Amino acid sequence: MSIPFIDLKAQYQHLKADIDARIHAVLDHGQYIMGPEVAELERELAAYVGVKHCVGVADGTTALLIALMALGIQAGDEVITTPFTFIATGEMIALLGAKPVFVDIDPGSYNLDPARIEAAITPRTRAIMPVSLYGQCADFDAINAIAARHGLPVIEDGAQSFGASYQGRKSGALSTIGCTSFFPSKPLGCYGDGGACFTDDDALAKKMREIRVHGQDRRYHHPVIGLNGRLDTLQAAVLLAKLPSFPAEVAARERIGARYSALLADVVRVPRLAEGCSSVHAQYTIEVDERDAVAATLKELGVPTAVHYPIPLHLQPAFAHLGQGVGSFPLAEAAGQRVLSLPMHPFLDEATQDAVVAAVRKALD
Ligand SMILES: Cc1ncc(COP(=O)(O)O)c(C=O)c1O
Repeated sequence: MSIPFIDLKAQYQHLKADIDARIHAVLDHGQYIMGPEVAELERELAAYVGVKHCVGVADGTTALLIALMALGIQAGDEVITTPFTFIATGEMIALLGAKPVFVDIDPGSYNLDPARIEAAITPRTRAIMPVSLYGQCADFDAINAIAARHGLPVIEDGAQSFGASYQGRKSGALSTIGCTSFFPSKPLGCYGDGGACFTDDDALAKKMREIRVHGQDRRYHHPVIGLNGRLDTLQAAVLLAKLPSFPAEVAARERIGARYSALLADVVRVPRLAEGCSSVHAQYTIEVDERDAVAATLKELGVPTAVHYPIPLHLQPAFAHLGQGVGSFPLAEAAGQRVLSLPMHPFLDEATQDAVVAAVRKALD
């Protein structure tokens, strides 16, 4: 038995005609940099998310960097975020010379715990950057209320949550700026690197568009420092081909996630969805005792798994200078030792899912 963790080939077979046609259209017109597909995709994505502006960028990491730069984050500033995330979240704050100020998670959702944010705010705090981990949005109503009280902008790291809804609104539309990634394995993935920033703020959108092209407002005129952070035309073309079936894929992810939960809830801790929240299950992540042993047994049984993420950011060597050792964020640390992600993609059929479930049950015996 060989089960893929994510099946991009099945999706390509399903959408081959449209993807090939879109790629060939780019090869025919030859506008590889900022070709018409980029603007077309931005219009479509802004409409899907329900915001005024979408700015297509090189990848999810660059989306975070451009959002932070547009908000003027600089050396000496503090940005509140979660330690239980992929490195990029804290990394982009640090890359600008700012300090990531970690706040522990709500163990129910694995996202930044709003109840702990206010205690971390100082006169140097300039932004709050929650992550919508595994595909479920952070508690933005609570986070935005705190941010508003303190006059702070909020950036959503929605790299894993594109397509998720929160109280009737979509990930990306929940804060000052929403960022996402189109890394191939993400819920909406391209065939290389890609990402986007979303906002309703005209001035921020203009700034992000300029920062994306070396801080340029007109040809060879650069009012601000930027970078090369553009989205490739070919990647935009792939995303345009995938977008029409994305809502059905989101529905499949929700259905498959719910089925996993129904079949596993009696033996492991399954994902908990907060009231009014959906998850796109970028990862379908359970919690088990003896996680590494369970993962090893599952590997022997032919079931691939992954750990998102074993080491919280405050314990990464790159953040050792912050001086936050073991015990600083106990909930993030505990989650890092217990979480285990199972095969998850919209083309996972019931027979394969049943085999995964049977293997998990066997591994726990
Ligand atoms: C939470 C989170 N933030 C940021 C990123 C960075 O996205 P990318 O790989 O597109 O740069 C990722 C994905 O890899 C992620 O999972």
